[in-house]
Parts: sequence; C-alpha cells; structure tokens
Amino acid sequence: MSNACAVILAAGEGKRMKAAMPKAMTEVLFQPMIDWVLDALDESGISEKLLIVGHYGEQLEEYVGGECGIAWQKERLGTGHAAMQAVPALEKSSADHVLILNGDAPFVDTDTILGALKAHEENGDAVTVVSAELADPTGYGRILKNESGELQRIVEQKDGTPEELAVCEVNSGVMWFRKKDLLSALARLAPSKVTGEYYLTDTIALLKEDGKRTGVYTAANSNVVLGANDRLQLLELNDIARKEVLKKHLQNGVDIPCIDGILIGKDVTIEPGTQILPNTILKGSTTVGKDCVLGPNTMVYDSTIGDGVLLNNVFFEDSVIENGGNVGPFSHIRPNSHLSENVHVGNFVEIKNSNIGNGTKVPHLTYVGDSDVGAGCNFGCGSLTVNYDGKVKHRTTIEDHAFIGCNTNLVAPVKVGAWAFTAAGSTITEDVPENSLAIARSFQKNIEGWVTRKKPYKNMK
Ligand code: UD1
Ligand code: CA
Repeated sequence: MSNACAVILAAGEGKRMKAAMPKAMTEVLFQPMIDWVLDALDESGISEKLLIVGHYGEQLEEYVGGECGIAWQKERLGTGHAAMQAVPALEKSSADHVLILNGDAPFVDTDTILGALKAHEENGDAVTVVSAELADPTGYGRILKNESGELQRIVEQKDGTPEELAVCEVNSGVMWFRKKDLLSALARLAPSKVTGEYYLTDTIALLKEDGKRTGVYTAANSNVVLGANDRLQLLELNDIARKEVLKKHLQNGVDIPCIDGILIGKDVTIEPGTQILPNTILKGSTTVGKDCVLGPNTMVYDSTIGDGVLLNNVFFEDSVIENGGNVGPFSHIRPNSHLSENVHVGNFVEIKNSNIGNGTKVPHLTYVGDSDVGAGCNFGCGSLTVNYDGKVKHRTTIEDHAFIGCNTNLVAPVKVGAWAFTAAGSTITEDVPENSLAIARSFQKNIEGWVTRKKPYKNMK
C-alpha cells in the first residue's frame, strides 16, 4: 500500500513486567508482541513501517532487523512525544495516511486496520480512532462524543472526571491520521497539566478545534484493545490467544480430546485428522501433516512433520520427519536432523545434525550425531557415534542396510559400508567395507572350574 505507512510506539518502559527487555518483546504464545503487530501490518499490505524505540531499544532494533525503520525516543515523555520522533521520517515519506498503533497490543488485526482506513478515507477524516466497548474500561483513554455522536476528545484515566470515566467506549491506541493533519497537530501538542506527558490523544481535540472531521471506528472484535502492562495481563493475553488458536485447529478437523497443557504457536499449521495429546507444545514455523499423533508431553519447535507421524514424549527441534515416522517415548531430536519415511527412533535416543534414511531403526539408548545414515539400517541398543574428539566434530557415514551391533562405538570420521555388520561391543575406528563383519573387541576366553577353585562368593566353602 503506497499511500499509507505505520508508526509503532514501543519506547515505553514496561516497568511492571519486571523484565530486562522492552515490553513489546515480551511474548504471547512464544512470540514477542511486536511480531503480532508487524504480522498484522504485513497482512494489511502496509510495508512502510517506523518503530519508535527507547527503553532497551537496542533489543527491538536488533530483533526487527531491517524490517522497520527505527526512530529513537531518548526520553519517555508520553505517546505524543513518541509520535513526534516520527516527524522527520514522515516528512520524507510519500504516504498520505499514517497509522499509529501501540507495540504492546498484539491482537490488532487486518479487518480492523483496513476497515478503519476505509472509513477514514470515505469520511474524509483528519483522524479516525479505533474504539472498543469494554465492560471494564479502567486504565484506557475514554472516547468523549457530543450529543450528535461526534468525537470531541479523548480523556485519559488519570485526567478524567468521574462522569467522563464512566464512559465504556475506549481508545484502542490504533488511529489513522491524514499525514498533514498529524504533523500540524504534533507541532502544537502541549504536555498534560496533570502528568506532564505529551498525549497523542490530545491531537483529537486540537484537530476538532481546527474544524476538522474526527471519526471513530468501532472494532468488531474488542480484543484489539487488549494490551499487557504486567505478567498477569500477559497471562490473560496468552489464554485468549491460546484458546483462539486451539479453536481454529479444532474447526479445521484437528483432534484435541483435552486441551490441558497444549500450547500451539499462531503460525503453526496442522492438517485435519491429526491428534494432539496433553502437554504438547508446538511452536515457531512448525508444520504438521495429517493423521499424526503428537503427544503426550511433546515439544516441537520450528520443524516439519509429515503425515501419519507418531511423536510420544519427544523433544523435536528444528528438524524434519517424513511420512510414517515414529519417535519416542523419551527421545530428543536435535537441530538439523532429517528423518526420512518410516524411520523409528525409540527410548532414550538422541539424534543430532544427522540424516537418517527410509525405514532405519534406532530403537534404544543410542546417540547418533553428525551422521549420514542410509535406508534400512538397524542400530543395536547402546550403539553410538563418537563424533567429537575434544576439538572438532567429525561425521559418520553408514550406508544402506548396515547393522550396527549393540554397544558399538563408531569413532568418527568413519564409514560403515552397505550391508556391513559391526559386532556387538566393537569400537570401530577404521572404515568397514560393504558386506563385511567388523569385530573390534578382545575375544572371549572361558576358564573352566575357576569359581570352584577360587571360591569368590561369600560363605563359599
Ligand atoms: C494509551 C492511550 C490510551 C489508550 C491505550 C490503549 C495515550 C496518552 N493513551 O494509554 O488512550 O486507551 O493506549 O492501549 O496515548 N510509549 C512510547 N513512549 C512513551 C510512552 C509510551 O513509545 O513515552 C509507547 C509504549 O511503549 C506503548 C504505547 O506507547 O507501546 C502506549 O503507551 P502506554 O504507556 O502503554 O499507554 P497507555 O497508558 O496504555
Ligand atoms: Ca498500554
């Protein structure tokens, strides 16, 4: 959208979060609140964005990278003062309309942003304020209208009379301004006599005095106003977001027989027919196919899960598992692993930075790290790759259908050829040619009658 830009206010201190980070970086469903706001802007097609940062601003600047322009508000003198820091960028911008919104209200959505813009343009408003009706408006700025229902001004909680504070229609903090009207109002903004802060909301009365049209757009979903100033409110936002996300998946045909302990990030996708069991957390850029069973007690981060996959008591990070895979219980799949179709990984197995071929089985007590494993292989219980020499990590290669005997140590770099066998208890330091048996252990010697001669047990005569 070329005629509109957005200014996100996120310099505030967020003291009550007691976090060493900007408030907009605190998370709802594992994603910083600022992400939610930026996503809503992207979905609305608003690509020109300016973020006002201050308290711990370096963190926000680093987090958003090049996605937004940045302006610093060195002293926190209120939302109006924050908006003033956008003036140089706005003067350069070719946009005619400016959306101002708060970095600590994650539920702003495209319908609201674009619905309000439409009203703003159609009505020829100098400013259009997005409002919502709240049962308990405490803490928010109240929308004050005249008898004909026209917006006159916004009064803040700290400044309002009891009569004004009885109004339940509140300012969401989302406002569309005509750019030239915003610039003219900001140039004239004076600090509040009560708090000494510059209120962005005071621009309304200034524009009204100029004889401009000031409009209100009531959001269909009152959640758009919700913000979090402390951890309790953050929990409430998490609860709301969590239930919304679960509802969406249930409506899409995902089976969730009990929601206890289930948290699903907002960008996770799940195909119908998959079942999610209690205490399962799916987050980041995770995608899940159909007919899987994930859980109980499973965490999946930034991963791709195929169809018909079972993950039971698994921690699965930044990895891929293809169709028909089966992992758990009590397995850890660490980043950059790729498990091909029908792989089985069982109890107390850790896989890291490895490729595992179709149908390979790693059933128990095994560590596979930095390895390329072919199809149809079998790992005996307790076998492992010795990938680290204290300085450098080395890779292990295991070709198709190799059989790794129980308690084999594969000292990398090393290669086991196709169909080869390693004998149980072997420490393999040399490559094993295909179709060979490698035995690398001392041979067994039985000493007959030793016990009757030596009498090693207590009370033996
Ligand atoms: C603000 C509005 C209020 C509205 C509410 C909606 C004003 C004066 N009040 O109140 O009408 O109902 O939002 O949530 O605008 N910020 C800065 N610099 C500052 C102060 C704040 O960047 O100096 C940022 C904050 O980081 C935050 C946003 O502006 O993201 C809103 O500030 P906050 O102090 O939370 O305002 P509210 O009291 O919630
Ligand atoms: Ca706030």
